Amino acid sequence: MEKTGAIDNYNARIKRVVITKEEIAEAIAKAGKEIDKLYDGRPILLVSILKGAFVFMADLCRAVSVPCEIGFMCAKSYYNGTVSTGVVKITMDLEQDISGYHVVIVEDIIDTGRTLNDVVKMLKQRNPLSLSVFTLLDKPSRRLVDFNADYALFTIPDFFVIGYGLDCGEIYRNLPYIAEYEENK
Ligand code: IMP
Ligand code: MG
Repeated sequence: MEKTGAIDNYNARIKRVVITKEEIAEAIAKAGKEIDKLYDGRPILLVSILKGAFVFMADLCRAVSVPCEIGFMCAKSYYNGTVSTGVVKITMDLEQDISGYHVVIVEDIIDTGRTLNDVVKMLKQRNPLSLSVFTLLDKPSRRLVDFNADYALFTIPDFFVIGYGLDCGEIYRNLPYIAEYEENK
């Protein structure tokens, strides 16, 4: 059956652009340089947390100059509309054995912090040479567990955002910018 409910008011729910694609590109170029500086020629493994970080990963991996492999894992934090339920599940794991790698986690957004707190705990048990976290967005005011990224490209207040990989109900991931989601339409 054709999916129609989720696309009612599709455009009206894009409230306003919060971060333009030019601003994103500029911040990613800077983050790429930071990774180059941090790893100084050493090879790294970029690990993208699917699905939200797939667009960020595609751009960030092209902004680094150190030798780099990429890996994907799927961690799902379950949502009731736009509210986190606090349940995190790994639905697809990395194929690499990460011992022997400098791992850089590439995440779309840190909200309550639960997802990355769990993911980082799990990956550290696998003895990587080192592990750092680069997140596109950070909503520090929403934190429920004590977790911070090593590098956040943008810090935003507490509102729900869509675009550039981020979804609401699985749509809007393909927007080239980051927008505030309109909850009341
Ligand atoms: P946390 O476990 O609460 O930190 O949630 C992290 C995950 O929730 C992110 O990786 C996103 O997939 C999702 N999320 C949190 N805030 C937003 C938002 O404003 N828009 C879209 N997804 C979000
Ligand atoms: Mg995510």
